[in-house]
Amino acid sequence: MAQTSPATAPVQASPREAGQAAPKSLQAKVAMCIGCHGIVGYKSSFPEVYRVPQIAGQSAKYISAALNAYKTGDRKHPTMRGIAESLTEQDVADISTYYQDLGKGQRKAAGAKPSREPSPQVAALLQKAACASCHGANMSTPIDPSYPKIAGQYADYLFVALKAYKTENNPAVGRNNGVMGAIAKQFSNNELKALSEYVGSLEGEMATVPEPRFHRSND
Ligand code: HEC
Ligand code: HEC
Repeated sequence: MAQTSPATAPVQASPREAGQAAPKSLQAKVAMCIGCHGIVGYKSSFPEVYRVPQIAGQSAKYISAALNAYKTGDRKHPTMRGIAESLTEQDVADISTYYQDLGKGQRKAAGAKPSREPSPQVAALLQKAACASCHGANMSTPIDPSYPKIAGQYADYLFVALKAYKTENNPAVGRNNGVMGAIAKQFSNNELKALSEYVGSLEGEMATVPEPRFHRSND
């Protein structure tokens, strides 16, 4: 089941015709995302099987930065690239704010400290690259809003993301980011996995919020 691309993916159902950039309602824009990001436990099978990242509760600036990176190809991911390319600047801004606020009432703010202590091994890895100096002591309060919250993000996705910063010369996989590239390259894949499992186990502010929560009246 993880292998199936979503037959129901609303991407194809987009009313946009070639060359026509008709303004879309927020609902129509978000309809392109919920087939993957609005289904709890939905998995991608490329380049390996992992849960599609939680984006509800992520900061809008980072969501925009990520979408723009898929658009330019700094982040390689064929599906997300196709989707990002179909979005105008205004779409990106509207969708990013929408996801930042989605489900806000149901979440509590992350505490100042991480919700659990790392093992000594993981503590050493976190210290080696000073992860907290950018992502925040609790991994949920990055020093810049264009940096991601990572606490509580799915560990299997975090691992794929961290490996992607190390990947070079692959036409379909990899993330070109000066900051995280230099950091990820300091670690073996086993170490990246241990980091991902710890960060993913923390309480965070993000969630996968299923589609029925979308109320048209909030447009
Ligand atoms: C077919 C499934 C699918 C659809 C539809 C989809 N996404 Fe994604 N999205 C993914 C996958 C898989 C990734 C992880 C890609 C990677 O490894 O970089 C991702 C990554 C992202 C990220 C980066 C998250 C992070 O933590 O860096 C953002 C932001 C995002 N998607 C937003 C959207 C938005 C907004 C839409 C609708 C306009 C959308 N996606 C539609 C599958 C999908
Ligand atoms: C100097 C600042 C800095 C430090 C230190 C840092 N990061 Fe990052 N991190 C960033 C930025 C900026 C991004 C966004 C890069 C991008 O746009 O792809 C990021 C992205 C990430 C992502 C991808 C998140 C997602 O949703 O796709 C993960 C995972 C991550 N960092 C984990 C770590 C870990 C673990 C450490 C320590 C080993 C660390 N970072 C240290 C700045 C930093």
